[in-house]
Amino acid sequence: MCGIFGVVLKGGRVAPLIHDGLKRLEYRGYDSVGFATLHSGTLQVRKDAGKIDEVVRSLRMDEMEGSIGIGHTRWATHGAPMMVNAHPHMDCDEKLAVIHNGVIENFMELKEELLNKGHNFRSRTDTEIIAHLIEEEMRGDIGFGEAVLTSLRRLEGSYAIAVISISDPGRIYCARYESPLVLGVSDKGTFCASDVPAMLPYTNQVVFLRNGEFASLDAEGFQIRRVQDGTPVQRELTEVTWSLEMAEKQGYPHFMLKEIYEQPSSLRGSLRLQRQYLDLLTAFLDRGEKLFLVAAGTSYHACIAASYMFSRLAKITTFPAISSEFIEQYGDSAAIDTVMLAVSQSGETYDTLKAIDHARMKAATVLGITNTVGSTLTRVSRAYIIQQSGPEIGVAATKTFTSQLMVLAQLALRLARTRGKLSQDEGDDFHDHLQMVPGYVEEVLKRHGEGIKALVEKYSRERLFVFLGRGISASTALEGRLKLLELTYVPSLAYPAGESKHGPISIVEEGVPVVFLCPRGDTRKEIVGSIMEMKARGARIISVCEEGDDDIIGLSDDVIEMPMGIPEALSSIPYVVPLQLFAYYLAVQKGLDPDKPRNLAKSVTVP
Ligand code: AGP
Ligand code: GLU
Repeated sequence: MCGIFGVVLKGGRVAPLIHDGLKRLEYRGYDSVGFATLHSGTLQVRKDAGKIDEVVRSLRMDEMEGSIGIGHTRWATHGAPMMVNAHPHMDCDEKLAVIHNGVIENFMELKEELLNKGHNFRSRTDTEIIAHLIEEEMRGDIGFGEAVLTSLRRLEGSYAIAVISISDPGRIYCARYESPLVLGVSDKGTFCASDVPAMLPYTNQVVFLRNGEFASLDAEGFQIRRVQDGTPVQRELTEVTWSLEMAEKQGYPHFMLKEIYEQPSSLRGSLRLQRQYLDLLTAFLDRGEKLFLVAAGTSYHACIAASYMFSRLAKITTFPAISSEFIEQYGDSAAIDTVMLAVSQSGETYDTLKAIDHARMKAATVLGITNTVGSTLTRVSRAYIIQQSGPEIGVAATKTFTSQLMVLAQLALRLARTRGKLSQDEGDDFHDHLQMVPGYVEEVLKRHGEGIKALVEKYSRERLFVFLGRGISASTALEGRLKLLELTYVPSLAYPAGESKHGPISIVEEGVPVVFLCPRGDTRKEIVGSIMEMKARGARIISVCEEGDDDIIGLSDDVIEMPMGIPEALSSIPYVVPLQLFAYYLAVQKGLDPDKPRNLAKSVTVP
């Protein structure tokens, strides 16, 4: 995820506006920044890695000339945050500049094709191929706008782009597929941006581009066409009534809620991993004798879920370990045949890095899954995968958790296939379900986004909650409980359901709410038994179960019904969503700030 911003003014310099607009998109990404402007027949580009204000000051970007320009604030997905990888990217002849938000899945094939045609690449990004593709198209003697349009048809993946060229100096061309892009008009000029806040000081008259749409902007306004066939699209302007603060959160009251609702799209992002890295991690995992999944907090819960997936699909044993315990618990047994898969959205968690240091000292192979390109984890891992969730601002992890699970599920499937542990049909079936997960989550949000509020109202005065699940759902229970605990400070317990009778059940008395995670699958029969046990002690049962599961529904006081057909091994992803919403709304109900729970930091970089 990153922020893009483009402006064509009727007069005056755009650079200060770009600086200002990017500042308000900084929450979308902030590892590098760059501007491109057109002035007197020349294209000027200044860019570097670093914070917006610092880079703008040191390169004197505010002073750039030109009344048309584009700017980018980057959250790297391909290529480390450094000057050459910062946007805008240019073609060989430096006549055009492009900025991009998203991931071009087929960039390797396109890059090879363009290299064979003699193009020179300067960066490691996927984005740069767009500049060269357009350049290549223009050799066919078509105009710049048409060249952009035809190039877009070759892209697979997600994009919001904006492009300028000296060959068409009064226009910005932009387009989107899956990454957001908004157009705006004012009496001063025309704007495009990833998000409304960038342009809100200048206009509240906007158009939200839709998937597969392309727009041509000049100082007077814009025209929209469809990428696929170039047909014109008419779209009325919408008046945005959001305040600047609301606009930054896309109208949501908190980043956490925005991030919960972003999950269908972040999960789609996490399905777009680069195959070669998945293969590399799979190869290392396949070679290991002892496999540890190491993480803290929410990421640790993802590791617990993953241990079920690895066992179920690839038939291998993995040990989920809490980072801060790893050295004491397993450290002495780590050796050259050990593989540690460290999972950390920030890539900077002290405890996780400490465990990694130890593993490396013991000659173990360290692999990583993180959301942060250029983080310490990426530097200390033999190989890593970027989970592609986009930046998460809320302190409580939500979309990064579900994305971690998505990546881990893909690894488990790849490993199962490599080891021949699944039949072709079983593998295909699981693969198809993986593609359906973003849709399941969308459905859950649609069904329960509002309904959860009534449930929160009903249980708002409770002083204790218990979360139970069996199998992979034990990890869902742990995560649901962590969200509730960190956001609302209400004491709660989470256990594997079967273990509850070995102690925790003593806490249950008349009226205590017990949340059961009950997807359909191998654990369902036993979960019914656990529900009975709890009911016998007077517990009030809140079940998250498949729709139409009458046995469970009949035993429950409240039910959150989930879409049918979700395989148990993938259930943690959609099933955790209502629990995230529950914790969020309960925090709001209690007048707490869900984005900044007390005593917690987004990234714990201290011992
Ligand atoms: C999650 O809601 C917490 N804020 C916390 O447990 C977090 O998951 C943990 O600190 C690990 O962070 P990491 O993924 O960045 O390593
Ligand atoms: N894939 C591009 C890059 O890594 C864009 C990044 C983004 O949208 O976050 O530079």
